[in-house]
Amino acid sequence: MTRMDLEELSNSARIILEKNWKEGFTIPTSKLYPFQWNWDSGFTSIGLSYFNLDHAIQELESLFSGQWENGMVPHIIFHSENEKTYFPNFDFWNSNVNLGAPQKPKSSGITQPAVHGFVLENLLHKFPDNDKLLAFAKSVFPKMVNLHRFFYQYRDPEKEGLTFIFHPWESGRDNSPLWDNSLDRIAIDKDKLPHYERRDTSLAPSDERPTSYQYDRYVYLLTLGKKYKYDERAIFEESPFLIQDTLMNAVLIRSNDSLIRIGERFGFDIGEIREWQSQSKKMFSEKLWNEKLETYVVYDLRAETQVLHKEIGGLTALYAEIADEDKAQKLNRYLLNLNENGFYLCPSFDVESPLFDSKRYWRGPIWPQMNWMIYHGLKKYGFDETANIVKSDLIELVSKSGFYEYFESQKSVASNMTTGYGGGDFSWTAACTLDLLKGG
Ligand code: GLC
Repeated sequence: MTRMDLEELSNSARIILEKNWKEGFTIPTSKLYPFQWNWDSGFTSIGLSYFNLDHAIQELESLFSGQWENGMVPHIIFHSENEKTYFPNFDFWNSNVNLGAPQKPKSSGITQPAVHGFVLENLLHKFPDNDKLLAFAKSVFPKMVNLHRFFYQYRDPEKEGLTFIFHPWESGRDNSPLWDNSLDRIAIDKDKLPHYERRDTSLAPSDERPTSYQYDRYVYLLTLGKKYKYDERAIFEESPFLIQDTLMNAVLIRSNDSLIRIGERFGFDIGEIREWQSQSKKMFSEKLWNEKLETYVVYDLRAETQVLHKEIGGLTALYAEIADEDKAQKLNRYLLNLNENGFYLCPSFDVESPLFDSKRYWRGPIWPQMNWMIYHGLKKYGFDETANIVKSDLIELVSKSGFYEYFESQKSVASNMTTGYGGGDFSWTAACTLDLLKGG
């Protein structure tokens, strides 16, 4: 690509981010996701900082305006109660059954990966002396620590150092095959499940979206949370779905590191974060590594077993610098093999598994924000060749097909396509591409 092409791509990314800005926060894409999403906003804030630091700050501020008393930051903040095109909307979540949920803004009752610590560090790195950012960082720091405390207090009640999710949506990888067996154990009684109508399948092709079998189970788990007033203790005791996820924990660990460094700079007390960190890193490597598969895997707390699949969450251990040299080499080799075998990096699921589906959401396609984290992880270990493939594959897909939500992972299939999958003009795709072009 020429410098001109790259300039044009950065420009288009900026235009998308400006278009998706809605007075104080950014939507991931119009129609399909018309509110503020938690981890999307983190990546988006990094993108915004290239041309509007005020907006980058506001993005995080708006997100934390939805924080609950127990420290949780919800996965969706419904800043508008008039937008009716989304399911499950704020009224279905009814999160105010929990007295610690703010009356305004309304929110969902589950969370998403805690990217905010490393996002804040990214902004501070770019603007180390900006007074407004420094003031914001100092005011948001305790809120971020509070969020991490939520994870360690309520999502790790046995004090193992690893936190759990109770809904696949919390992992950010909604319909990954990782959750299939655990969801299969939930028997659905249709008469007891509240009536609901999906909206996503009228806005995107249904063969790119989760199936209705899966959706019933998502609604079941949501309803279970609501039934227990989103009380974390009760959820831990009652939920049939409790998983210690690789991505959730790796992102939390990566953000712990960032909060430690930020706290040191400001002279804040970071003893508690250091304690979480030393236990988490160790446990992650001990409990989630699978030597036969040569990757990190998720752990099903209800079935008391590792879930034996290679998938993209395990690779984020690189970004959190959890892997030792030997494990890192294995993860790097896994990616190089895929590259040699006709795949874009990084497919979200094991391409050799019968469950792989290069088109369906988290069951195989390429996801931009994942490439962003894995790129930075590989760089940390000095795997520059692989890192550059991860970066250039994403840039190639975006420049060829546009700023889609996610992309085809098989090169032979993608070569006949002119678009990506899911929503178009997507915020995290624009933000991550912009950052990789400018800074990465
Ligand atoms: C989908 C993704 C999730 C993301 C959301 C908004 O639900 O799986 O990770 O946060 O869309 O983009």
